[in-house]
Amino acid sequence: MSSLQMASGVAVSQAFNPRRLAFNPERLPSRGIRFQGKKSAIVSCVNVDVKPSPEIAAKKMEGNGSKEIMEAEAKLIVGTYARAPLVLASGKGCKLYDVEGREYLDLTSGIAVNALGHCDSDWLKAVIEQANLLTHVSNVYYSVPQVELAKRLVASSFADRVFFSNSGTEANEAAIKFARKFQRHSNPDAKEPASEFVSFSHSFHGRTMGALALTSKEQYRTPFEPVMPGVSFVEFGDIEASKKLIQRGKTAAVFVEPVQGEGGIYSARKEFLQFLRDACDEAGALLVFDEVQCGLGRTGQLWAHEPYGIFPDIMTLAKPLAGGLPIGAVLLTERVASAINYGDHGSTFAGGPLVCTAAISVLDKISKPGFLSSVSEKGQFFKNLLTQKLGSNSHVKEIRGLGLIIGIELDVSASPVVDACRNSGLLVLTAGKGNVVRLVPPLVITQEELSQAAEILANALLALDGHDY
Ligand SMILES: Cc1ncc(COP(=O)(O)O)c(C=O)c1O
Repeated sequence: MSSLQMASGVAVSQAFNPRRLAFNPERLPSRGIRFQGKKSAIVSCVNVDVKPSPEIAAKKMEGNGSKEIMEAEAKLIVGTYARAPLVLASGKGCKLYDVEGREYLDLTSGIAVNALGHCDSDWLKAVIEQANLLTHVSNVYYSVPQVELAKRLVASSFADRVFFSNSGTEANEAAIKFARKFQRHSNPDAKEPASEFVSFSHSFHGRTMGALALTSKEQYRTPFEPVMPGVSFVEFGDIEASKKLIQRGKTAAVFVEPVQGEGGIYSARKEFLQFLRDACDEAGALLVFDEVQCGLGRTGQLWAHEPYGIFPDIMTLAKPLAGGLPIGAVLLTERVASAINYGDHGSTFAGGPLVCTAAISVLDKISKPGFLSSVSEKGQFFKNLLTQKLGSNSHVKEIRGLGLIIGIELDVSASPVVDACRNSGLLVLTAGKGNVVRLVPPLVITQEELSQAAEILANALLALDGHDY
C-alpha cells in the first residue's frame, strides 16, 4: 500500500487506467505533435479503486475518440463555447493528455485555476480523505473546514470576515449585494441610499446579471439587456474621469481588478489605485478588488494588491482557490460585514467541507516560504526569455504582466498563434480583443518547461505570416 493509500484509508490503484484500453496510436495526426509513447503518454494521477472491471471500462470508452466526443457535444451541449478541437482525458503537473494519447504543455491552467498543476499529490490526498469523511452539509450546519479556511484567509489578508460562494461571478454578485446593503445600513435616513457602481474599460467580473453589468465588453452585455442598472464605465487608469463619477450618495462601490486578466493583462498604476481608495473614502463608497484571476500567488504575491500597499473594503476570489473545484470567496472588513444580517445572502453548496479542504491545501502550499518568490523569479525569467525570443517579431507590440500572468500583445488576432501552439503541443489562451496571447501556467511550472514554451511560441508566431511549420 502506498503512503497515500495508508493516509487516506482509501484503496488507490495506479495500475488500472481505462484510457489505455482506448488508445490507438494510428489516430495520431503527424504534424508537429510530440508523442510520448504508449505508457508514459497516458497517465492518470490516481484511480480510486471502486472496483471497475476492465470490461466495463472498455465498454464505457467505446466510440469515445475525439471525433465522436466533439460530434456528440455539438448535438447535446448548449452552444455557448467555441472550443478548441481537443478532448482532454488526464493531467499531471503541467502536462495534459488527450483521449488520443497526445501530450500538451499547459500554459492555461484551466483559465488560471490549476495553480498547483494537475493532480497535485497533497491536494489529491486532502480531497480523497475529506470525500471519505464528508462532502456537503449545506450552511444550515457548521463544518470545520469552512471555519479553518476562513481563519487562514483572514490571517493572510486585510479582511476580518469571509463569505463563500461557488464561482467568481457569484463572489462579485455577493459583493454587489453587500455594497448595496452597506450603503442602506450606513445611511438609515437616506430615502434612496447610494446604489450605483463604477467599473473600468477592459474589465471582466463575470456572467451573472450583476457581475455582467460591471463587465466592460459590450458583446457580453447587450444580448441580455436590461442588466443591473446604474453602472458607469471609465477608462482603466483615468483618474480625472473617475473623479467625476465617484460621488457621495450615488456610488455604492467601485469594482477594479488590480491586474486585469480577460481584458488583456493590464496592471493598475499605484497612483490610480491610491486615487480610487481616497475617492471612495471621500464619497463613502466601497472599494472592491476583484482578484478572481490575479489573486492567490499568480503575480508572485499572495494578493495582487499587496505591493501597492493599498487595501480594499472587499476582495473577491475564486479561480485557483480550491485547486480546480468550484469555489468563490468574498473577503471583507468588519465595517462592511456589520451591515449584513441573517438571511441577507446565502448558498446551498458554498463553503462545503470538500471544497474548503481542497482550498486549505492550496492556500497552505502557496503561502509556504519560497513558493511566492519562486513565482516571481520564474515570471521574470519567462518574461526576459519571451522578450529575447519574440521581441523582434514585427507582430509583437508588447510583452507585459507580473509573475506568471503574462500577455503578448499582437497587432493582429492571436488565434493563428494559439492554433499553431496547440499543433505543437502547447496550450495557451487569448485575452483582450483576441489580439493578446495570455500565458497563465500552473505556478509550479519549471524553468525548463517555460523555456520549451518560449521556443514553441517563437516558432508559432511564424504562423502569422502564413508559414506552415
Ligand atoms: C477577474 C475575474 N472576475 C470574475 C470572473 C468570473 O469568474 P467565474 O468564471 O468563476 O464566474 C473572472 C473569470 O474569468 C475573472 O477573470
